Amino acid sequence: MSRESRPIGVFDSGIGGLTVVAEIARQLPKEKIVYFGDTARLPYGPKSTETVTQFAIQDTEFLLRHDVKMVVVACNTASSLAVDELRSRYDIPIVGVIEPGALAAVSSTLIGKIGVIGTEGTITSHAYRESIQRLDSEIETIEQSCPLFVPLAEEGWTDREVTLVIAHEYLAPLRNAGVDVVVLGCTHYPILKGTIQKVFGPTVTLIDSAEETAGDVAQVLTEFDIANNSGEEPAHRFFVSDVPHRFREQAERFLGAELPDVNVVSIDELVAFGR
Ligand code: DGL
Repeated sequence: MSRESRPIGVFDSGIGGLTVVAEIARQLPKEKIVYFGDTARLPYGPKSTETVTQFAIQDTEFLLRHDVKMVVVACNTASSLAVDELRSRYDIPIVGVIEPGALAAVSSTLIGKIGVIGTEGTITSHAYRESIQRLDSEIETIEQSCPLFVPLAEEGWTDREVTLVIAHEYLAPLRNAGVDVVVLGCTHYPILKGTIQKVFGPTVTLIDSAEETAGDVAQVLTEFDIANNSGEEPAHRFFVSDVPHRFREQAERFLGAELPDVNVVSIDELVAFGR
């Protein structure tokens, strides 16, 4: 296979990364994608840096077996905790979701006050705050973890009353701080966008890291001259580490389309890949 026609590897702890896949497919329709969702070991959000890094290495090794030309870490938690380690180990481009989201937030704020919501791992790592500070040290960043948002998104409770009540509770500190931009710092959150926007009202801009990341992927393809120019129709492939039927059922909500077959890769195989 030529360098350019090799697939883009994308991984997440589970289903959330499909929001990134949807954006890559929309912005870069010629690119082939191999996706891995680590559904057996989800959630990554509350786990330690060591554990998430170990998982991220195994996930990347699995994708490399599929001859990917670059890896997209479509998980904010793994991007926050493990992307530096991945970049130091591998010589193919590794795209995380933090820098693109931070850059879009800095470009959008008019008053220099940005809210960031994410998993516990993402928020306690302060990866977004540090990335925003590197771009503009004057900006104030207010961070808030929203652990219940992941199961609500997985359950498809996007516009239930209970979701709105929980969102009000979590988002109160950001509203009180008067932020004008909020980064959806978890790949599950874009499907709760409607409810989150309702809490903040129309004057607050929500940054969807999935959209921004696909833009970064496009840039990397150009920079490394590895965009797929073959005329073939791209066939994407999907792998998970457990319960593929649940992944398929949920996928439509995250991807906006039906999935082809979903294959299972066992944890034993993953661990062996990472050795
Ligand atoms: N998709 C993960 C993220 O973006 C959230 C789910 C999890 O905790 O594993 O951080």
